[in-house]
Amino acid sequence: MATNITFHPGHVSYEERSSLLSQRGLTLWLTGLSASGKSTIATALEQHLLHLKKSAYRLDGDNIRFGLNKDLGFSPKDREENIRRIAEVSTLFASSTTITITSFISPYKADRQVARDLHAAHSPALPFIEVFVDASIEECEKRDPKGLYKKAKAGEIKEFTGISAPYEAPEKPEIHIDADKTSVEDAVRIITEYLLEHKYI
Ligand code: PPS
Repeated sequence: MATNITFHPGHVSYEERSSLLSQRGLTLWLTGLSASGKSTIATALEQHLLHLKKSAYRLDGDNIRFGLNKDLGFSPKDREENIRRIAEVSTLFASSTTITITSFISPYKADRQVARDLHAAHSPALPFIEVFVDASIEECEKRDPKGLYKKAKAGEIKEFTGISAPYEAPEKPEIHIDADKTSVEDAVRIITEYLLEHKYI
């Protein structure tokens, strides 16, 4: 824990920045099993929002583990730290008025709550929209684009979510995508309609 540190506020408040840029910051927190479609939906959504001239930026589990979080594995403690850091980073992005799209398995309810609480603690509170990309384990195993389920079942990957590590599904996500039956285009439409209905965009 660092000591003797001082917080330096900027000259431009969140409200003024938001008004100057005509944009509201928020985080769309995608959660779901490996191969549920989180990254594919996030990528298409980012593209769609950018084409609507909205500043949107994606933070993706696999990608972030190449850099910022390359020191972390998949133990419960490491996943907690992974999500804690992303909770901080997504709050920073959202506070810059960016529409932040995170796609992490984020299997533990308590860790997702940490992210939600951090957004709520910002002044003003930043919207935190949990998007449950709800694909069944059977469907994910069938897709298995990276061959990870096959490896996990053969015991070659330990602590694999859904096989040998838990996934705690959200109880009341703001958006629930039935990812077994919903196309990527429809998922993007559902999320965009939610943003429009709530006047976030
Ligand atoms: S977590 O649980 O939120 O910390 O995971 P995340 O940062 O999203 O990383 C998930 C991606 O890592 C790959 N991978 C694993 N996933 C789950 N369990 C284990 N043990 C594991 N090992 C590697 C996998 O490619 C995940 O990507 P997605 O896009 O979810 O399939």
